[in-house]
Amino acid sequence: MTTSRPGGSLLAVSDLHVGYPENRTLVESFVPGSDEDWLLVAGDVADRVEDIYWALRLLKERFSTVVWVPGNHELWTPRQDTVQLRGVARYELLVEMCRRIGVLTPEDPYPVWTGAGGPVTVVPLFLLYDYTFRPAGAQTKEAGLALAHEAGIVCTDEYFLHPDPYPSREDWCAARLALTERRLAELAPGTRTVLVNHFPLVREVTDILRYPVFAQWCGTVHTADWHRRYQAAAVVYGHLHIPRVNWFDGVRFDEVSLGYPREWQRRAKPPRGLRPILPVGSPERDADLAW
Ligand SMILES: [Fe+2]
Ligand SMILES: [Fe+2]
Repeated sequence: MTTSRPGGSLLAVSDLHVGYPENRTLVESFVPGSDEDWLLVAGDVADRVEDIYWALRLLKERFSTVVWVPGNHELWTPRQDTVQLRGVARYELLVEMCRRIGVLTPEDPYPVWTGAGGPVTVVPLFLLYDYTFRPAGAQTKEAGLALAHEAGIVCTDEYFLHPDPYPSREDWCAARLALTERRLAELAPGTRTVLVNHFPLVREVTDILRYPVFAQWCGTVHTADWHRRYQAAAVVYGHLHIPRVNWFDGVRFDEVSLGYPREWQRRAKPPRGLRPILPVGSPERDADLAW
């Protein structure tokens, strides 16, 4: 492999959903442009542990550093999976699997990208959601869910993403927020970060959803200022399956999803694959961002 860019690039992708053969073929085509490239994988690799393992191991063989955060799909317990662990136990199994193959997770010390555009501390986040991105007119989680059921738009997480041993997904989210805030408080003053989370950190990006009532499964209002609080040089997320770029307070937010074949196959352009996050100002990063 040759080094084409001194200092390498910090690349990102999410929502690989490699249970679909078309997506598996695309993932097989992902190669670094440089020996020094890092890859951020922002969740929804697949539903089954075997498929998650296949994709992350392949990517780790190719990229010097791979950082993964879980999406909602990794946390499902599908009936057809040979692994029937639920909730925290399933997450811990995935973390252990990542450790075996050398993939970094939210449970590891935050790695520092010292390549082009660095130094920045890469912060893989696992925060989940807590139903606070409520639909218009809903004052409570229950009211929001009722509107979703009325509209017939209910996230499959309600049936397959178990929070065990927490009583609810929002309790799990609250615990993750508290744990993560404690860790982030330990960063040295002035530390620049790249925040990587499956779910968007700000609600505004969900305004584009075809079914706005779905936003309640997309994040938490408690992270609305994290890009400012933790001096983000960039924010990476997925989950929406709407790849795009937004700016908030001068910080670039990249939705880096691949999505389902039925979604990317109907777009005019083929999937872009890996999105350059750093360095800022690279032509690949800044050119032609319309999807
Ligand atoms: Fe997804
Ligand atoms: Fe997702």
